[in-house]
Amino acid sequence: MAIIQHPKFTNFHQVQHPLLQHKLSILRDVHTDTKEFKELINEITLLLAYEVTQDLPMTMQMVQTPLETCEQPILAGKKQVILPILRAGIGMVEAFLTLMPSARVGHIGLFRNEETLQPQLYYFKVPVQSEDRQFYICDPMLATGGSAVAAISKLKNIGVQKITFVCIVSAPEGVERLFKEHPDVPIFSASLDRKLNEYGYILPGLGDAGDRMFGTK
Ligand code: PRP
Ligand code: URA
Repeated sequence: MAIIQHPKFTNFHQVQHPLLQHKLSILRDVHTDTKEFKELINEITLLLAYEVTQDLPMTMQMVQTPLETCEQPILAGKKQVILPILRAGIGMVEAFLTLMPSARVGHIGLFRNEETLQPQLYYFKVPVQSEDRQFYICDPMLATGGSAVAAISKLKNIGVQKITFVCIVSAPEGVERLFKEHPDVPIFSASLDRKLNEYGYILPGLGDAGDRMFGTK
């Protein structure tokens, strides 16, 4: 099934795999409890991660099979970095590690001020010598785009060039903002929802991803 590129915001790609869309519908349901919510985030991210890693660079290496030696493809370059935006992005890490067990994991702590909706940075840790690594920023929600823009800007400030933003639900407002501020960064999402409400929540959305994942409300 297709990955659809947005006609105007060309860095935005919606992954339309039927399994992913089915799981997303259950994820949105207000009756889905914390345990199932976490499991679904993991399963959806597995399907997203498979798609977003499709252009990883490869090199050739000699492999000795039980029968002969042959040249075979392996991933090239430094280990990739998974960068969850705390808190909700944490739920997406395990799926990436299932596919790329030797990837590194950084962390960026950002929370939205509930009145201004501006992101506040409270934690940042990435591997040393990150400049030429491929980063996958993970956050289930792209709402105003403030957190995503701040995370990408922080990485660019330390010299990172290869950045992909992976989310599950996105709002048109955030997609437009990311396109304006970081058009070079591909975004992969399972959906493009209708709009934001006056409190910065995505409609129809799934509510507060962090609270639903960690059972804090
Ligand atoms: C949520 C979500 C994103 C952010 C998206 O986190 O996980 O990080 O909001 O909104 P934006 O696009 O308008 O910046 P929140 O700030 O609620 O923090 P939490 O994960 O700790 O609950
Ligand atoms: N963050 C969330 O967790 N949900 C939204 O709808 C918007 C931002």
